[in-house]
Amino acid sequence: MSYLCPLCHAPLAPQERSFVCPQGHQFDKAKEGYVNLLPVQHKRSKDPGDSSEMMVARRAFLDAGHYQPLRDAICQILEQAAPSSLLDIGCGEGYYTAGFAQIIAQQEGTTWGLDVAKVAIRYAAKRYSQVQFCVASSHRLPFNDQSLDAVVRIFAPCKAQELARVVKPGGIVITATPGPRHLMQLKGLIYDNVVLHSAESESLAGFIAEQTQQISWPMTLRGNEAVALLQMTPFAWRARPEVWQALTAETAFHCETDFIVRVWRRETSA
Ligand SMILES: C[S@@+](CC[C@H](N)C(=O)[O-])C[C@H]1O[C@@H](n2cnc3c(N)ncnc32)[C@H](O)[C@@H]1O
Ligand SMILES: [Zn+2]
Repeated sequence: MSYLCPLCHAPLAPQERSFVCPQGHQFDKAKEGYVNLLPVQHKRSKDPGDSSEMMVARRAFLDAGHYQPLRDAICQILEQAAPSSLLDIGCGEGYYTAGFAQIIAQQEGTTWGLDVAKVAIRYAAKRYSQVQFCVASSHRLPFNDQSLDAVVRIFAPCKAQELARVVKPGGIVITATPGPRHLMQLKGLIYDNVVLHSAESESLAGFIAEQTQQISWPMTLRGNEAVALLQMTPFAWRARPEVWQALTAETAFHCETDFIVRVWRRETSA
């Protein structure tokens, strides 16, 4: 399986240091091994996606193992489904993707990681050579119709239509989204009234919901870990200086996690 050209959607042929389509559009491989398939004209900002600060904070936090139960739960689903091709959408710095790749390797399959943030993909590719990483937008995935056995989407945007296009009939999408109480103690430091995430059941056009599990566990964080957690979330920019100071001084900040993990099966009939 190969990438598609983001300009003309023809297959990209791998060369030694680049990928080239029949029309001659060329995309060079970076020295870290990833390829940037996000043409300037498709960018909505100069540096789309999560910032470098968010990415560095997320790497420190995930490396400490605080979200390992989430990774383990998705790995367990993958062990059972045994896909031989997997795409992690919005893979960030690659912590989850690398875990999934170990399972896909058992089938001698391929794991792909995609994110719109170049800085995150650079970090990911540098550390995890077993994954094929690309910079691209989830609004137009650089993959052929019905080419993937499985897609994982952890807290990342992607339209149902695009997922339905790339997943094979009978293939799966695994989504992880925040449950009602996710990080509510952290939010309590920032908002006067903490609104619980909605627990409404979702739907994904073209897919049948097959499994839903809620995973939650308590975390006790040291000041620097709590600061990293805040930095990697979208509510960081709302936090007043007092909040950052208070978190930095924490020795045991208690915070709940709450994730909803769903497995969606691609319908087989057209
Ligand atoms: C909340 S982060 C989750 C990262 C990773 N899955 C994790 O949980 O650690 C969302 C990720 O989606 C990426 N992202 C945002 N918009 C995107 C888009 N349109 N296409 C691809 N990735 C996108 C961000 O750069 C970021 O890395
Ligand atoms: Zn092309």
